[in-house]
Amino acid sequence: MSAWQQARRSARMNPSIIREILKLTERPGVRSMAGGLPSPDSFPVEAMRAACAKVLRDTPREALQYAASEGFGPLREWVAAHLAKQGLAVTADQVLITTGSQQGLDLVAKVLIDAGAPVAVETPTYLGALQAFTPFEPNFVSIECDDDGPLPPSMAALASRAPGTRFAYLLPNFQNPTGRVIPAGRREALVQAARQARVPLVEDNPYGDLWFDAPTPPALSSLWPEGSIYLGSFSKVLAPGFRLGYLVAPTELAPKLLQAKQAADLHTPGFNQRVVYEVVRDGFLEQHVPTIRARYRAQRDAMDAAMRRHMPPGTSWRAPQGGMFFWARLPEGLDAMQLLDSAVAAGVAYVPGGPFYAHAPDARTLRLSFVTLSQDDIADGVAVLGRVFHEALATAALTTP
Ligand SMILES: Cc1ncc(COP(=O)(O)O)c(C=O)c1O
Repeated sequence: MSAWQQARRSARMNPSIIREILKLTERPGVRSMAGGLPSPDSFPVEAMRAACAKVLRDTPREALQYAASEGFGPLREWVAAHLAKQGLAVTADQVLITTGSQQGLDLVAKVLIDAGAPVAVETPTYLGALQAFTPFEPNFVSIECDDDGPLPPSMAALASRAPGTRFAYLLPNFQNPTGRVIPAGRREALVQAARQARVPLVEDNPYGDLWFDAPTPPALSSLWPEGSIYLGSFSKVLAPGFRLGYLVAPTELAPKLLQAKQAADLHTPGFNQRVVYEVVRDGFLEQHVPTIRARYRAQRDAMDAAMRRHMPPGTSWRAPQGGMFFWARLPEGLDAMQLLDSAVAAGVAYVPGGPFYAHAPDARTLRLSFVTLSQDDIADGVAVLGRVFHEALATAALTTP
């Protein structure tokens, strides 16, 4: 018998289905629409190389030393100024630099979730957040959603349905997995409903800068700063390998989040923070992000065109206005999880939608990333998927009495 006894929470740590699927996609010849990775062609390698050299030349000892848990001061200032341009009035001392925004989710969970406490999530929601929150044993409450995001009456109903809800986790821009955006009017109604229900908000916004057609409406946090935590990330606008994100919290919560951060990793790598600061300090993102938008927009168009051509009748989707994902719903009778093996055998991988739901998964849904494949591979891959789904429909018709 083993001498180790695991904590109760470890039983709730499960392998991410996405990571499991990514293993399948590593097979040679599989075109993967499964990953949530940005396009490596969008990484500004030369700017990074120059910034690394500069940091090592000018401040090598500071960059390689332990540093402040809150983050590198000039980068915190930069984040505050960047958010101010988007209408979020934030001071640098409210900004906590995190090791990816994924760490922000973990810190928020540690500080705010007790076992059995209600936590409200969208339907569906980001799987990585479910994974971060679950070990703290929340009682997940699903907020009803439509194509424009969470429904305000469902938010308002939390007051009676789930009193004491610790927070509602919301993804207003190009949501992972659905790609949807919460329109401006809906944001106002949602925040009003949340305030009335006394449910604070955790706003996760890694994709907001990746808009194709028009900038996104004001952040939820700008409508209720003292009732919101805001999470941002450099992963999708620069590169995820630096593991740099940030969290903005109301002053009453900031010290606890900082203590949780200290216990987790003392601080986010100072070298990485200095390199990224060197890259962004003089307005680099203002030229760089539009190049990502243009690249992803063309890929979005290629996928939409291919879907129109190849998906069987009865499949529904909305071409996203930004971000990295299409979300599709297959015709009645098809199950995206069951069809994954056939799709991978035919040479294409996607993520079935079921795991993104806290409750009542919709087995007909799936997520398709359009940013890491070329336009030709998108066209060919969607054609293959269309064939797999058409064949499954034909088989279902034959076997249905
Ligand atoms: C909605 C959402 N939040 C957070 C993250 C984590 O991002 P990172 O830790 O790289 O900042 C991701 C990554 O894909 C995401 O899609």
